[in-house]
Amino acid sequence: VIPAANKNHRRAVRRYPSGMESEAMMFFGEFRIQPADPLLSIMGRFAADPRSRKMDLGVGVYRDDSGRTPVLAAVKDAERRLLQEQQSKSYLGSEGDPVFVKLMADRVFGAGASAEDGRLAGLQTPGGTGALLVAAELLAMNGAGRKVWLGTPTWPNHVPILAAAGLEIVTYELYEVATRRFRPDRLFEAIERAQPGDVIVLHGCCHNPTGADLDLDGWRHIADRMAERGLIPLIDLAYQGLGMGWDEDAAGTRLMLAGLPGALVAYSCDKNFGLYRDRVGALFVQGPSVAETQALWSTAVAIARRSWSMPPDHGAAVVRLILEDPALTLSWQTELSEMRARIARVRAGLAAYGKVAGIDLSGLAHEHGMFAMLPIGADAVERLREEAGIYMASSGRINLAGLQVDALPAFVAGLRAATEMALA
Ligand code: LMR
Repeated sequence: VIPAANKNHRRAVRRYPSGMESEAMMFFGEFRIQPADPLLSIMGRFAADPRSRKMDLGVGVYRDDSGRTPVLAAVKDAERRLLQEQQSKSYLGSEGDPVFVKLMADRVFGAGASAEDGRLAGLQTPGGTGALLVAAELLAMNGAGRKVWLGTPTWPNHVPILAAAGLEIVTYELYEVATRRFRPDRLFEAIERAQPGDVIVLHGCCHNPTGADLDLDGWRHIADRMAERGLIPLIDLAYQGLGMGWDEDAAGTRLMLAGLPGALVAYSCDKNFGLYRDRVGALFVQGPSVAETQALWSTAVAIARRSWSMPPDHGAAVVRLILEDPALTLSWQTELSEMRARIARVRAGLAAYGKVAGIDLSGLAHEHGMFAMLPIGADAVERLREEAGIYMASSGRINLAGLQVDALPAFVAGLRAATEMALA
């Protein structure tokens, strides 16, 4: 209970002395309420919908056959162990837990990668977003006029993060949503047009939001051309293991690291360990020499220090425990394979419908990961929500992991009705 005197104190509004008022009020008075994040606000609207047959195809989290986002068994075991064995919650450094970073580097890039030649280094970050933020700030240093080439559509947070660092962004259409057609040729063209020192942003696998990934020949081609043209890759690898397989999903990134002197990789463990809200990620940097890698890494650590000082530990400690213990590793890999297989079943099931309301869904079988773009307008998205309780991003992105195989007929019927109504 707040004592009455204090209450009054809180209510008393003090004024700035006249003359100073307008300057101070310029600060306080010029903020505007920001629109709710279109993707994240779907979660709240979905939760508030009383219908029992609703479907959440919005934010990118995995869901099982019963629509739940489970805590993985290996995570639960590691958490139990952590609760019993952790002796201290004292600070780690700004680089996070070096054991987590090393174990992840060897998993992601292949056994021994962390020790190979000293040109690869990493730091733990709050999610892949933290890694992207540090990467963006690094890229904004040492090189005025550096452009960042970004294929569209892309994850809606890419542009704000890169732009906030002061980078100039050039976009090109990597995927034609209207025809659901992947255009790697446009990426190849962007690489030819870019100037030495420019940055090419790439999705390592399971492209968000299109699901359309380069094949290995495509990766080989861009690794060669980018090396020849003096370009820097920024690879966002957030869904490893949810596409074709653990090694398959990192194959392109590994080719890039082998084929180019330098690279930045923003990594997320949020999806493949199901640790979303614990925010587990890492930024890996590779430089042309050991000395350059070390300088790049220490600058990244300094950026982390002034951004969040030190990353949260819990999720990364869980990942470390899983990767240190062969039984937990096996349990995690088994569950990850099941997730991947379920997503593939949903993809195949939906692809089998072929054309629905003029939309060719057959390509879903050849795209990867949780996401796909449907060429439907915001009005049809709204109708799907109102009429059928199906929630998705207004851009037309669906999270396939939100679909249950036995709900596919209802989804297709809802899609047909909503798009036909929108056309009528
Ligand atoms: C998504 O794209 O749905 C996820 O990456 C969640 C997010 O932060 O946007």
